[in-house]
Amino acid sequence: MMKNKTSNTKKNKLFMPIAIVAGVGVVAFLIFGPSAGDDAVSVKLPSLSPLAVAGEAAFNANCAVCHGKNGGGGTKLAPPLVHDTYNPGHHPDEAFRAAVHNGTTQHHWHFGNMPPAPQVSDAQVTRIIAYIRELQAANGIVAHPHQM
Ligand code: HEC
Repeated sequence: MMKNKTSNTKKNKLFMPIAIVAGVGVVAFLIFGPSAGDDAVSVKLPSLSPLAVAGEAAFNANCAVCHGKNGGGGTKLAPPLVHDTYNPGHHPDEAFRAAVHNGTTQHHWHFGNMPPAPQVSDAQVTRIIAYIRELQAANGIVAHPHQM
């Protein structure tokens, strides 16, 4: 009886530090795990409509520096837009217009805020949206309602 009790106490003494280390590890993973830059998406390229081709040019000039080539991310500055998070059910076209006009504060990722892009006209945003939506559709990203 006595022996068992002692060895159990020893086990507990060992278990606590291990549990603490494991706990800290889990918390650190939750904070730093899905880190910036690990998010690059390999984007399948469809043949684009003329509107989307115009959008691609505007995207490359104004957005790709952060959102990556073909909206595939991987820049450490912003998320990929060809990503299920930005499916039309969760981020409708108005969300794109709002992001370009007002910028957006960090809320889905760990990249920081997006500044507004006042140099991009409404007509250009319309073309950029066409471009991103066609890329999304070609990569299996379809509208589904926001559940959060
Ligand atoms: C300086 C870097 C930067 C540039 C340039 C930039 N973005 Fe962003 N954008 C971000 C970041 C960072 C986020 C993610 C914010 C978050 O959700 O954490 C973001 C998010 C978005 C979102 C999601 C908004 C939402 O409601 O969650 C859209 C849409 C978007 N960007 C479109 C664009 C378009 C279109 C352009 C080009 C006109 C552009 N961005 C240029 C950094 C940038």
